[in-house]
Amino acid sequence: MSGPRKIIIDTDPGQDDAVAILLALASPDEVEVLGITAVAGNVPLPLTQKNARIVCELAGKADVSVHAGCAAPLKRKLVTAEHVHGKTGLDGPVLPDPVMPLQDEHGVDFIIRTLRDHPPGTVTLCPLGPLTNIATAFQTAPDIVGRVQEIVLMGGAYFEVGNITPTAEFNIYVDPEAADIVFKSGVPMVVMPLDVTHKALVTKPRNDAFRAIPGAVGHAVAEMTDFFERFDREKYGSDGAPLHDPCVTAWLIQPDLFAGRHINVEIETTGALTTGMTVADWWGVTDRAPNATFMREIDADGFFALLTDRLARL
Ligand code: RIB
Ligand code: CA
Repeated sequence: MSGPRKIIIDTDPGQDDAVAILLALASPDEVEVLGITAVAGNVPLPLTQKNARIVCELAGKADVSVHAGCAAPLKRKLVTAEHVHGKTGLDGPVLPDPVMPLQDEHGVDFIIRTLRDHPPGTVTLCPLGPLTNIATAFQTAPDIVGRVQEIVLMGGAYFEVGNITPTAEFNIYVDPEAADIVFKSGVPMVVMPLDVTHKALVTKPRNDAFRAIPGAVGHAVAEMTDFFERFDREKYGSDGAPLHDPCVTAWLIQPDLFAGRHINVEIETTGALTTGMTVADWWGVTDRAPNATFMREIDADGFFALLTDRLARL
């Protein structure tokens, strides 16, 4: 029996990122969080790095190594999503400012050093936001690419189409050049696109179950998803907030909750209307080599049962 999977969470909190981080920190038997690297995305970097520390302290894990990474995409102007996440990026609950320190080491340097310090194939990267930090690390230190065990990320869309443009999902759209580097890296990939995350909706009974968890974590998560859901409810008429990023952590803990296909996925970086699109060859109509397991199905009840059980452990 191997020990917990060693991971680096690369993130732009974001209420759903926060839940993904909480789930990881609540599951030490399955997941060892070596560190958290913040990236600009939902809100600018000063807020994503602060929010990552707020979440660690909410989990009672103030010893986690949190690093600030890249403040802007590789080549483009930063696009943020305050309209979804609020101006702090973590609107909903009232949470105290963090006391735990932000590490001095840049997030990209932490990713490089950690991969060099661990045996090849023993560290998994879990990006939950734009892929700027990951791509910068791969460009800065090409030697680490072959050392990555797997990349398990939230991003992209195919059947569900886009959420920030008609064809692109936010994480990929913010930095399509970075996504192109990562998807072409050759690292084994598991992708959680909107196709699956839009089936992980926080309905009222599920939100009530969060709220019923004794202690601060359940209440905070219920408040986060109450805030986070209003955008999707208005846009899609959906019956609750889609919990995008926790699909990544849940897969690490209980992969049989998900199903998809190992297919070729490439990133559009020049399309006037389609930049940021994940061009997923779901039907195998090209001879492009498969590079990612692209998820489409989820056992949503099982996902929320796992999530609620684990959050109650914090
Ligand atoms: O499109 C959803 C993704 O964009 C999620 O990771 C959310 O946190 C935002 O980063
Ligand atoms: Ca995110």
